[in-house]
Amino acid sequence: MKLKKLFFPFAVLFMGLLLIAATSHQDWLESHWHKPAATTTTSPHGWPDLEKNLAPEACAQCHAAQFSAWKESFHAHAYSPGLIGQFPHMGISDSNDCLKCHAPLAEQKLTSITELSASLKSKLIQPEGFDRDGKLDGVQLPLRHAGVTCAACHVRGWQRFGPPQRSTGAVGHIEGGAHGGFNAVKKFESSQFCASCHQFPQAYAINGKPMENTVAEWQQSRFPREGVQCQTCHMPDRKHEFKGIHDIQMVRKGLVFESSLNANIATFKITSKWIGHAFPTYVTPKVLVHIQALDQSGLVLKQKEWVIERKVEYRDGWQEISDTRLLPGESRMYVLATVPASATVVRFSVEVIPDNFYKGVYESLLSDALDADATQLINQALKQANLNDYQLYQHEEVR
Ligand code: HEC
Ligand code: HEC
Ligand code: HEC
Ligand code: HEC
Ligand code: HEC
Repeated sequence: MKLKKLFFPFAVLFMGLLLIAATSHQDWLESHWHKPAATTTTSPHGWPDLEKNLAPEACAQCHAAQFSAWKESFHAHAYSPGLIGQFPHMGISDSNDCLKCHAPLAEQKLTSITELSASLKSKLIQPEGFDRDGKLDGVQLPLRHAGVTCAACHVRGWQRFGPPQRSTGAVGHIEGGAHGGFNAVKKFESSQFCASCHQFPQAYAINGKPMENTVAEWQQSRFPREGVQCQTCHMPDRKHEFKGIHDIQMVRKGLVFESSLNANIATFKITSKWIGHAFPTYVTPKVLVHIQALDQSGLVLKQKEWVIERKVEYRDGWQEISDTRLLPGESRMYVLATVPASATVVRFSVEVIPDNFYKGVYESLLSDALDADATQLINQALKQANLNDYQLYQHEEVR
């Protein structure tokens, strides 16, 4: 399939969907995520500059633990080379549609082509969108560089919103502390809080399932009945880690591997035991399962490969080619029958390619004429995507 055709419809898919999501807003969550703005034109009376500052470095002065976890997360790096390298192709309005998830505040929007060009340049000079040490005295980049920043989830009209107060469990407006107190809201503890960016509407289903279907997958699992929300796994004890498929320990925690060699049959069983959605939840990663029979010298005599992936392609509209992902609680058995008599070792292994789909997008972009800065950024993104591949599991049974 032509790679060039791959990217553009992918962009189009993203753009329409937020318009739908934004049409009704009866409840607190919908209004929280409807055209989110952290400020109003009138700034609060009597607040020190530090409390008026929306930069993550400012929050870090008093919320150091949240900052040091968040800065390692993908949320902190959502204004990425792979994202903004695509923007010159797309123009301002379409780029801002992407920012609805990658840098969602009104204050983070791009306002002109000049600003976009400047943004690409500063990304090349200063790849990190904020000061990693949380220092406030350095050059501060525009807030969009901080991606899904603290204020994106926590600040609306200058006011801070957060989960029920840790020490008391209290909800509602809580006085004191800094920034005029804060508003404690139960919804911060629920999976629905993550939905505006991690769940597409059913109207965008491909073969019955939207391309991002994480919250629906969670709803169909045993986890809601057990009171396990996205936050339980991705923000344990409220830690702002947001670890996912790019983190080997996180993925290992989610799966159980059992391998055995009986006579001539090698079996490899993989069970999803602690993943609150399909493994993997997106169409972007690809996981490879191998069983290999080797002889004494390490030569592969026989092998089999299986793919765990939801594969979609654009052929006059999006189509699902296959879906071999593991659902929550599901076990899958992989078998290499008749291991050759001369084999002395059977190797069981699993590889993860977290950004498989994006690699294709980047390669297709690079095959086109891009502006110089964009080319450099997309090259960086492709290089990083390749570096993200890893071996999740390997085990050998000796005969
Ligand atoms: C000068 C120190 C200071 C700065 C700067 C500051 N905060 Fe706070 N923040 C506090 C204090 C103190 C509390 C109250 C904690 C409590 O009572 O449990 C608080 C409470 C909060 C809460 C509520 C926590 C909960 O239990 O729900 C959130 C959310 C929050 N801040 C976010 C931010 C964000 C985002 C920024 C940066 C844009 C920021 N704060 C900047 C001191 C600060
Ligand atoms: C404003 C939109 C937005 C909200 C709200 C949001 N996310 Fe994200 N999330 C993103 C984006 C964008 C990325 C990808 C960042 C990147 O790599 O460019 C991401 C990435 C992640 C990842 C890492 C995925 C990986 O590949 O490793 C996890 C885990 C995650 N989010 C969990 C959550 C959870 C849990 C919540 C709710 C508490 C949440 N997110 C709320 C936009 C959001
Ligand atoms: C509905 C929310 C949403 C919208 C809108 C959105 N993204 Fe993302 N994007 C995500 C999430 C969540 C991830 C991380 C999960 C994954 O690996 O796919 C992500 C990951 C990415 C990545 C790989 C990680 C990185 O940052 O390098 C790229 C590139 C990307 N998006 C580009 C785009 C582009 C271009 C647009 C606009 C055409 C767009 N996105 C619109 C939610 C969104
Ligand atoms: C993607 C959304 C998101 C981002 C980005 C984010 N938070 Fe949070 N934050 C949450 C959620 C959700 C909770 C509640 C988690 C829970 O209850 O399990 C929370 C909780 C908190 C709390 C209360 C912690 C406690 O122990 O009681 C503070 C303070 C806070 N965040 C500050 C920050 C700061 C500072 C940043 C940036 C460095 C930040 N947050 C970035 C979603 C976010
Ligand atoms: C029971 C624990 C658990 C729950 C609940 C859970 N996750 Fe995950 N999540 C994981 C593990 C483990 C991984 C790594 C394996 C994987 O990628 O599926 C992961 C991966 C991810 C990723 C990485 C991208 C990908 O393709 O897999 C995102 C994004 C994500 N989760 C978001 C969410 C959101 C949003 C929710 C709530 C609707 C949620 N998770 C609920 C454990 C959980």
